[in-house]
Amino acid sequence: MDTDRNGEFLEILKEKLTPSRLYHSICVAEKAKHLAEIFGADTEKAYTAGLIHDIMRYEPAEEMLKLIDEDGKHKLTDSERRITVTLHAVAGEVYLRTKLGVTDEEILSAVRYHTTGKEKMTLLEKIIYVADLTSEDRDYPDVSKVRETAEESLEKATLRGLSFTIESNAKQNRPIHIDTVKAYNYLAERIE
Ligand SMILES: [Fe+2]
Ligand SMILES: [Fe+2]
Repeated sequence: MDTDRNGEFLEILKEKLTPSRLYHSICVAEKAKHLAEIFGADTEKAYTAGLIHDIMRYEPAEEMLKLIDEDGKHKLTDSERRITVTLHAVAGEVYLRTKLGVTDEEILSAVRYHTTGKEKMTLLEKIIYVADLTSEDRDYPDVSKVRETAEESLEKATLRGLSFTIESNAKQNRPIHIDTVKAYNYLAERIE
């Protein structure tokens, strides 16, 4: 089972990530496990998905595109090819599945959508999205408020993260990934 391989994954992460990104990954794993306990998800899957979510974070864009194209599962649009900040999530899914033999679809999908979100996110997808935003190592002005929200509602915390991403990209005249817009609209229409 993929959830029995954390030790193996940790060794690979030590090779691929900086110490601070490794620390971030462990913090996200811990936070994801905590959120899974609160919201009734599989705590072991949450921990493992959190641990490996950023495995491709420092891979050069050309390498990620090559990996994604060779695999063929994800057909990227031209705009997606240019939004390099979100590529590591797609490349992470491909790398974990094709190079490390990860088979758990819930874990793979949580990694795949951890940067953009998507319409109708699963429980584990929301947990990883929110854990990435509220992990112990995160430090931004609203972080304690978002952490409090996360304890009460994954949807509200996810919406907060999506709004932040949309706002900050728009302010810098950067494109917004279509999945982020869809995720935002889906939740905004359902949350009071
Ligand atoms: Fe990431
Ligand atoms: Fe992350």
